[in-house]
Amino acid sequence: MHVTVYSTFAFEPDFLSAAAAGRHRLHFVEEALTLATAERAAGSEAVAVFTNDDASAPVLARLAELGVRGVAVRAAGHDQVDLAAAQRLGLRVANVPEYSPYAIAEHAVALMLALNRQLRRADEQLRRFNFRLDQQLVGFDLHGKTVGIIGCGRIGGVLAGILHGFGCQLLGYDVQPDAALIHRYGLRYVPLAELCAHADIISLHAPLTPATRHLLGAEQLAACKPGAMLINTGRGGTLDTRAALAALRAGRLGYLGLDVYEHEKGLFFYDHSQQPAADPVLAELLTLPNVLVTGHQAFLTHEALSNIAATTVENLDAWAQQQPAPSELYPAEAAPLAQP
Ligand code: NAI
Repeated sequence: MHVTVYSTFAFEPDFLSAAAAGRHRLHFVEEALTLATAERAAGSEAVAVFTNDDASAPVLARLAELGVRGVAVRAAGHDQVDLAAAQRLGLRVANVPEYSPYAIAEHAVALMLALNRQLRRADEQLRRFNFRLDQQLVGFDLHGKTVGIIGCGRIGGVLAGILHGFGCQLLGYDVQPDAALIHRYGLRYVPLAELCAHADIISLHAPLTPATRHLLGAEQLAACKPGAMLINTGRGGTLDTRAALAALRAGRLGYLGLDVYEHEKGLFFYDHSQQPAADPVLAELLTLPNVLVTGHQAFLTHEALSNIAATTVENLDAWAQQQPAPSELYPAEAAPLAQP
């Protein structure tokens, strides 16, 4: 199959080409998929997209006109694809439901530890040969702290295991509780308000759906323990970032670690260092010492990239044989909350 691979990162062609092993002609394009760049897919039977590509109804309609028949999402989250429109247009869609929950859960822990132990500040001081220890470097033990996990699925479940190892008490909030997490790690499912009120650290791992947009907003943040740490490696839209900034200013939130940002589209994954900061909320967040932001890199491990490439190619192999992909997506799955 001819496949146009949008939003290709420099490190991806090797993984994808190795997985395809000559079975598909992959056309790598750096630009994101938009209505304007859809033309680049002319001559391809499928496109491969990433999290910040635009696979909304008008873009999908243009792709269908150009002869594209499949959209392979090289990620787990697929909120950027209008699945109902794809089905109407006869486009198949598939994702990579699991490639390494460890990569993301471990990154969430990296953010927690880096914020808590002031690694950024310590590193900056040390590089100036200042080896003094001062008040600002004092952290806290994770052992014994209460961590609230919002969305206890694959990634949230792995995080629960890691934090159980640290000796944390675990609270969970999920619409579909997993009994295994209760038995294995003593995780206690509680309503969201209770989780916010009792957690020293909150970590967001729910998918972005209409029901989870701004799941954590001003009301929930006001109910948090003073000085709590909030980590989001899920989807930016599940957190009301303005409300988080206000909570940081008010001292209600003690720390904020983000790998995702609700307005990251068009911003993350590109070098904007030569342009003035266009996003005042993010710009202010980045001035705060108790904020750490990474640019949607939680997935970025060798293991994850290799698994993403393998599953993406499995999906393409199935389509090449006119079969549904192993991880084919259907509209009902776009709204997990509507399911029993
Ligand atoms: P998953 O589907 O295994 O788990 C999601 C969990 O959230 C499920 O247990 C589900 O019941 C729960 N959930 C759904 N709606 C909810 C709601 N309204 N309230 C509370 N819980 C709700 O998904 P997985 O693999 O754990 O991934 C989670 C999210 O992480 C993905 O949707 C994706 O957006 C994000 N992600 C971020 C990455 C990054 O690089 N930063 C990489 C991979 C995924």
